Amino acid sequence: MKRNNLFFIIISFVSLSFINACKDVPHLTKKEVTKIGFIADSALIVSARKEASKIGIAILKKGGNAFDAMIATDLALAVSYPFAGNIGGGGFMVYRTADGKTGALDYREKAPLAATENMYLDADGSIIKNKSTLGALAVGVPGTLAGLFAVHEKYGSLSFSTLIQPAIDLAKKGVVITAKQAKRFQYFRKSFQKINKRSIFLDKNWKAGDTIKYFALAKTLERIRDEGRDAFYGGQIGQEMVDYLQKLGGIISIEDLKKYKAKWRDPIQFNYKDLTITSMTLPSSGGICMAQILKSIEPYDIKQYPHNSEKYIQLLTEAERRAYADRAHYLGDIDFVDVPIDSLTNRAYLKKRMSDFSWQEAGKSALISHGKITGYESEETTHYSIVDQYGNAVAVTTTLNGAYGSKVYVDNGGYFLNNEMDDFSAKPGSPNMFGLIGAKANAIAPEKRMLSSMSPTIVEQDGKLKMVLGSPGGATIITAVLQNILNVYEYDMRMQESVSQARFHHQWLPDLIKMEPDGFDSISLHKLTVKGYKIEEGNSVIIGKVDAILVLPNGQLEGGADPRGDDTAIGF
Ligand code: GLY
Repeated sequence: MKRNNLFFIIISFVSLSFINACKDVPHLTKKEVTKIGFIADSALIVSARKEASKIGIAILKKGGNAFDAMIATDLALAVSYPFAGNIGGGGFMVYRTADGKTGALDYREKAPLAATENMYLDADGSIIKNKSTLGALAVGVPGTLAGLFAVHEKYGSLSFSTLIQPAIDLAKKGVVITAKQAKRFQYFRKSFQKINKRSIFLDKNWKAGDTIKYFALAKTLERIRDEGRDAFYGGQIGQEMVDYLQKLGGIISIEDLKKYKAKWRDPIQFNYKDLTITSMTLPSSGGICMAQILKSIEPYDIKQYPHNSEKYIQLLTEAERRAYADRAHYLGDIDFVDVPIDSLTNRAYLKKRMSDFSWQEAGKSALISHGKITGYESEETTHYSIVDQYGNAVAVTTTLNGAYGSKVYVDNGGYFLNNEMDDFSAKPGSPNMFGLIGAKANAIAPEKRMLSSMSPTIVEQDGKLKMVLGSPGGATIITAVLQNILNVYEYDMRMQESVSQARFHHQWLPDLIKMEPDGFDSISLHKLTVKGYKIEEGNSVIIGKVDAILVLPNGQLEGGADPRGDDTAIGF
């Protein structure tokens, strides 16, 4: 059996970070090898759950636009996909309106007012295990609801109550648990128990096919429908959350919630050959790193290297190595630190960075630090892509950070809280849960936003919309997204074919290429090993979970719903 085919089989059964426990021998089904995704004439949504894509599409059918659908889809994910969908986390949106205007919204969590630079270190200056990932101290001030209300205020065309109602109805009606979801609940049961006395997820041993009804969450959403944004940012829902967190030793105050604001930002925009790529700016590293990597490989005639062959992997790896070294040193919240974005993405600078790259042998991260200018993986985030019937496009990546975030479940309110504080650099040079190293630029400070890798991205060609895409996956988000752009642009793949391809990832440190197992041919792997590359297949079984839309030459839309999850494209 070819390794690529085996890869398709495996990813259809991959269940996130607990895959190592999954011993099933999976079978290839026709759906998983289908190269062409769902085709729509006018509008399309691709998200992590069928229920959410369906709710977003129903809003579009009511006459709503992509921004209305974004709000409804996001809230539906908070109900149907508690693994990463949320009201207790944060995210980023990148958009392109029908008339070609682009923009971005930052509703990233931020550090509480009482946060301090060394809050996760012991008296000896060592990192205290789990303190930034598990429990109340790991929680950043949530931004999701502020983000949704900001989108509504600027671009919404239907009332907020119309947009939130489907999520309320879904929470009351209940959500059928998929096989993948049941495995996740089982896998994380012990961590839920460690933090919470009770939660709906501990009520019983949920199995695939069971229906969970989320009455507490429905009540919270009803209150938000009736009282608006302030119900959370200063009102009773927020107060209950603060009280619960403080009981668990947390430091978020009602003042933190009152001060929280989502921010409209200018996205990063750059050209790769004749494509114009728009992606998220700081506090996400996504757009800057993607620009660095794609501009570094631009001078090479990529098409001459077969897809996922030795030379293709080598070239991307060397560009990634250098970009992630810069990320670790220079990047942090632009509202707090000066980041030389123009210098870092300058073509001459990147050419110089690549000048010591040799086809003969692997570069060494120990010898390649950040340039001089004038973790590990999981998919505990979620991305969805929307194109509406008017031509607007929206790319959103939202997260609790880890699976079910900090595992703190506000039982009364029916939702999980993030553990986004781990995305700060708790100690310069020490890796976070994604293995990412940081420095002073990403140190903790009150009200600062932690550095992200989330990369909601929009691609244009000849002034027209071409792709909308993004991915979960921590540090691997950036490399998952850019590999899909290259799959479509350099290797002429269709969208579904592209998202189903095996992916690889290098992030400077640790100095190894992570690869989805059995997705690459053994001759290429052998040649890379001979050159000195260290390859890791298997520890992290999947790299990203890309949900994307491609505009076809005839104007139709093709969805790429990643077969690694329960992801679904729906449209009309
Ligand atoms: N929490 C993952 C990220 O923002 O990159």
